[in-house]
Amino acid sequence: MQETLTINVRKTIRALARIELIGSLVKLRQRIAKIRVTMLSESGRKSLKHRTGSNGLVSVSRNYLLGELRQIEETRTIERARYYVRRLRRALSDVKTSPINDLNLHRWKEYRNIQTDSLWILQKRDSSGPHSAWYWGNFVPQIPHQLMLRYTKKGDWVLDPFAGSGTTLIECHRLGRNCLGVELQPSIARKTRNRLKDVFRKDDSGSLALEVGDSTKADFHSLLQRHGTRSVQLAILHPPYHDIIRFSRKRNDLSNAGSTESFTNMFGEVIDNVGKVLDEGRYLAVVIGDKYEEGEWIPLGFLLMAEVLKRGYKLKSIVVKNFEETLGKRNQKELWRYRALAGGFFVFKHEYILIFQKR
Ligand SMILES: C[S@@+](CC[C@H](N)C(=O)[O-])C[C@H]1O[C@@H](n2cnc3c(N)ncnc32)[C@H](O)[C@@H]1O
Repeated sequence: MQETLTINVRKTIRALARIELIGSLVKLRQRIAKIRVTMLSESGRKSLKHRTGSNGLVSVSRNYLLGELRQIEETRTIERARYYVRRLRRALSDVKTSPINDLNLHRWKEYRNIQTDSLWILQKRDSSGPHSAWYWGNFVPQIPHQLMLRYTKKGDWVLDPFAGSGTTLIECHRLGRNCLGVELQPSIARKTRNRLKDVFRKDDSGSLALEVGDSTKADFHSLLQRHGTRSVQLAILHPPYHDIIRFSRKRNDLSNAGSTESFTNMFGEVIDNVGKVLDEGRYLAVVIGDKYEEGEWIPLGFLLMAEVLKRGYKLKSIVVKNFEETLGKRNQKELWRYRALAGGFFVFKHEYILIFQKR
């Protein structure tokens, strides 16, 4: 969790505007130091609240704000100091967002929690609230969480055509996004709905829907219309990693595809289907890992990437994410190491998050 400072933003902006006019570097630094001390002192913050009520009070990342003030105090020229003051004033007063998310780019330094590197090392699964790892083959909640912060605005619709235990639905609820999840297995959909009934019940501001269906041919358009919308602004696809886990005995389950080729073809049908309801310019993410078959590495990630590219999407990123040891493998760590040494291969430690933009 980011530590925040509650400041009276209007008063701070006015003070910064006055400081920007100061001609002496020493005086300017002194005034900034005074602001910093006032913000930090507990009594200062109390009297601030007392004087202003909740009007004008805004929470700002503590590290960001103190970092900016310290930078001004350490500056050696008046021009540079004024520039930093102006930049801070703008960060607090102006909002600069893009059409695809709610991030205020004037305050980009505050978003330390948002991934921008192509290598994600996640130490621990987020198991807070209704998240639990009961479903073998679910993904860590941090994946849909990060994707939604980058690629959706509040109130946008997210489509998850392989919904499973509803990890995406939970994150949508937390972040104020609407979500349509589609899952092939009625029993899993029922269990997920049941486990998340509190989340669904509390969902009064937006819409959360989990439908049973085959995403290779489901009519997403009609399903969305049932919930009062026509299209989605982000699609998150976490298909089976072919037959690594057999999710059901159903013929139209991607995990039962008879060959790698038929697996990629079925996945292609899902992409065609999703493409019909995804808005232009918006994003589609595929979460997938590779597999071994008879001593040969099968690059499912690259094969699925090719399926999406064939359909004219723009590739925006290939993210590599570390892979937690599955319960089964944890007990057999040494055995896998031996097998790797003997068989000339490497033990899987990563999966991909492929990010595309619809043109
Ligand atoms: C890797 S899991 C997704 C897990 C999910 N991200 C979660 O966190 O619980 C893949 C899911 O896709 C479902 N599935 C397989 N084929 C499908 C199809 N044709 N249509 C819809 N769902 C399908 C499986 O039943 C399984 O629940």
